[in-house]
Amino acid sequence: METSFNVVLLGSGRGSNAEAVLAAQRAGRLGRARVAGILCDQPGARILELGPRFGVPAVYLDPAPFKTKLEGAAEQRYIAQIREWQADLVVLAGFMRVLKTAFLEAFAGRIINLHPSLLPAFPGLDAIGQALAARVPVTGCTVHEVTAQVDAGRILRQAKVAVAPTDTAESLAAKVHAAEHELLPSVIAELSLRRR
Ligand code: GAR
Repeated sequence: METSFNVVLLGSGRGSNAEAVLAAQRAGRLGRARVAGILCDQPGARILELGPRFGVPAVYLDPAPFKTKLEGAAEQRYIAQIREWQADLVVLAGFMRVLKTAFLEAFAGRIINLHPSLLPAFPGLDAIGQALAARVPVTGCTVHEVTAQVDAGRILRQAKVAVAPTDTAESLAAKVHAAEHELLPSVIAELSLRRR
């Protein structure tokens, strides 16, 4: 029997990208990949509602005491859960926290991130606001490998989005999200078929 490629999704908020990945799996468009679990650092975030909807474990794990990074005892809790789910790939889908050495070493070469710009343009927070402020005609989204330097790992794939002169932060975010919902599942499917 064909072995599956276990994906663990990490998110902090709405989870629309995690939902797109789960919907792709349900539709048979995720290659060998299957979502083994969802981890979230915000209690009550909407991403956690995807667990019961799609029949996968979705768990809030306390990230304390840090606000913007995952380190120390919390980092170890995340590592242990991801190991228990036997992850072949860790996907940051709106996980708003910087990963540190122990986590990066535990899953070296197996962590990818989704970012709402055409990296290396507009790394960091509010990439969509940054693109609007810079008045670029085209922005987009990127899936890249995660390294110690934030938003700087090897780029796996990007999708472009045209910026209209009339775009607001909301309208541009909607377009970028729509592009992300296509890009992320297709990159996961591709990786699942490549790594045998
Ligand atoms: C996505 O747009 C993702 O690119 C972004 O957070 C959003 C999560 O949306 N990630 C970052 O900005 C990481 N620096 P979602 O919770 O609806 O999937």
